[in-house]
Amino acid sequence: MKAFITGGAGFIGSTIADRLLQLTENEVTVLDNFCSGQMSFIEHNLNNKRFKLMKGDLLDLPSLKEAIKGHDFVFHFAANPDISKAMTETDLDLRLGILTTYNLLESMRINGIQKIVYSSGSGVYGDIGLTQAPETFGPTLPTSMYGASKLGSEAIISAFCNMFDMQSWIFRFANVVGARQTHGVGFDFIRKLKGNPKKLDILGDGKQSKSYVHVNDVIDAILFTVKNCNEMLNIFNVATDDSITVKEIADIVVSEMNLKNVKYEFSGGRKGWKGDIPVVRFSLTKIHNLGWRSKLSSKEAVLKSIREMLKKESKSVA
Ligand SMILES: NC(=O)c1ccc[n+]([C@@H]2O[C@H](COP(=O)([O-])OP(=O)(O)OC[C@H]3O[C@@H](n4cnc5c(N)ncnc54)[C@H](O)[C@@H]3O)[C@@H](O)[C@H]2O)c1
Repeated sequence: MKAFITGGAGFIGSTIADRLLQLTENEVTVLDNFCSGQMSFIEHNLNNKRFKLMKGDLLDLPSLKEAIKGHDFVFHFAANPDISKAMTETDLDLRLGILTTYNLLESMRINGIQKIVYSSGSGVYGDIGLTQAPETFGPTLPTSMYGASKLGSEAIISAFCNMFDMQSWIFRFANVVGARQTHGVGFDFIRKLKGNPKKLDILGDGKQSKSYVHVNDVIDAILFTVKNCNEMLNIFNVATDDSITVKEIADIVVSEMNLKNVKYEFSGGRKGWKGDIPVVRFSLTKIHNLGWRSKLSSKEAVLKSIREMLKKESKSVA
């Protein structure tokens, strides 16, 4: 496989780059503008002859058409990392989510590249409470610009696949956690408690409950599904079959940082921020029937990721 990974210096993209490079028949190109990506996630691959780094932006269509030449499989992980920023910059996800996806598909079409993996999310389903959404759930009514950009990107991918004989694997992930995450609730709590170990500001009422899946499980799900599904459009939810609350995550972080008597201050309300979805449940029947199931539960995934992040931090301080 000659893989082209957009956002390949980010959390999930760099992790899949490592996994693909473990197989000697694979070559990997990473394209990233480093808006949230980090060189430290990929620098160990820079001397590998099968690895290539391209600094660039998906918004630059002429350069993208050139950069993508010669590849046969695209993994699209680039996206706006700051979901709540759309409150003040309303066109952000339109540009960094939908337009970038269009540019990528158009570059693929021109160069005859047919296969794409896309990282979508639970945001496409909107706020549907405890309903366990199957992939066929509708109407899909996102509550954030980010969710809308994921749904819009899925729609454009579907159109390109139908009109230009392309093939796609679209994954609607739960919250993904792991060593290299640069945002998310666990990451945020560690940062806040390093600043003030006596008090933790928690967005919402702490009862928001969602599935958290470890990045290693996510990569397994992607590779397994690509290998075993050959439809024109392959859409899958990827999550654990349980959930954990924000307050439970706070307790894990406090305990793992060996802190005592931390005062929790809740901002209140069901949602962490406008556009947030406080309760997320997936139906996993489709991917379970195919033969994939997460190895770790939400609690185990969160615990592992907190330990990984703390270990990484202590190494970088040492
Ligand atoms: N992490 C999660 O919990 C989660 C859940 C569901 C879906 N997703 C999706 O998975 C993908 C990867 O997420 P992540 O957590 O690894 O995020 P991330 O922010 O770590 O990685 C995104 C990468 O894309 C790059 N990038 C952004 N805009 C770009 C552009 N215009 N051109 C080139 N590079 C650009 C960033 O520099 C970064 O390296 C994203 O599409 C995200 O929306 C993530």
